[in-house]
Amino acid sequence: MNKVKNTLFSNKPVTIDNNALIMAIESSCDETACAVVKGGREVLSNVVASQIKIHEEYGGVIPEIAAREHLEAINVVIDEAFKQAGVNGDNISAFAGTVGPGLVGCLLVGMNAAKSLALAYDKPFIGVNHLNAHLAANFIDTDLKPPFVALLVSGGHTQIIKVNSYSDMQIIGETIDDAVGEAYDKVARLIGLPYPGGPKLDKLAQVGNPFAFKLPESKVGGYDFSFSGLKTASLRLVKSFTDKDLPLPLEDICASFQECVSSTLYKKVKHALEETGYTQVVLAGGVAANSEIRKKIFSLKDIGYSVYAPQMKYCTDNASMVASAAFFFENTFDNIDVEVFSRVK
Ligand code: KG4
Ligand code: ZN
Repeated sequence: MNKVKNTLFSNKPVTIDNNALIMAIESSCDETACAVVKGGREVLSNVVASQIKIHEEYGGVIPEIAAREHLEAINVVIDEAFKQAGVNGDNISAFAGTVGPGLVGCLLVGMNAAKSLALAYDKPFIGVNHLNAHLAANFIDTDLKPPFVALLVSGGHTQIIKVNSYSDMQIIGETIDDAVGEAYDKVARLIGLPYPGGPKLDKLAQVGNPFAFKLPESKVGGYDFSFSGLKTASLRLVKSFTDKDLPLPLEDICASFQECVSSTLYKKVKHALEETGYTQVVLAGGVAANSEIRKKIFSLKDIGYSVYAPQMKYCTDNASMVASAAFFFENTFDNIDVEVFSRVK
């Protein structure tokens, strides 16, 4: 895997080979992160400053507060990532940064820090799409190579992607309304769990009965998803208890919701594998940390597929996955003039 990238000032080409060290910065939402990764797979440092405690108070991420927090944290995480990796700017082959999708004010902080480092050390800058970075989390500490089918489930996205090669990927299905993480967070809020509710809902679900309540599965065709019907049905279920002043069977509601979501995802992924003929499947995004979704997708091993999912610390937002995407994928933004973007166009 050899790529040649140009520097910004002197246009001095840099070869990105298996020994290349990439320092990456991630700041698209509420984590300020910096990492140094060797050859796209070996993490030398992975520093994450989370703002969850700050946003918990408001029940969600407040973009302006998040951007200010990134500014506060950015230099600290960069210093720490250099220190833990035992390297300095001169040892780095290229600097990478998330350019979108995400919160514009937040992205600006991290991307400009990465561009500044690239300029200061006269190294290439590699702009990375956050969703590709989530996929690339699967390259860390593994020998995964395309082609594969990916299920990307995060707070903002739900997609099935056919990854044909490092330069060619097609989104073959996506949600027509809420993302999986969003549905988790909304239903969690409905039953009184604090932000971000996804992981808390997952915990309660693990001790509940998944077949206690029958909730409606997504009815959209092909590989697309819809979670708004499930959200409304969950609201109705909760109201059927609260209207009568009955205590909520929290664990059973969570388990039934989780069963419904995970079986929809499982069926669509299995179908995509059958139709593409691909034998490898990867799980990616913050919701890839979910216990039941992991379990169901990993059960595809029993019928002969190779299954990959990132280690827990690389499921939610981090910068190692950004470095890995900068190393492997060809559809990066290698240009000092690249601007941040909030949504995929
Ligand atoms: O990928 P991510 O860090 O942010 C985006 O890029 O959107 O994902 C965050 C999302 C949140 O919605 C959070 O509630 C959800 O991932 N999440 C989970 C679990 N861990 C994180 N949802 C369900 N079960 C979990 N264990
Ligand atoms: Zn993310």
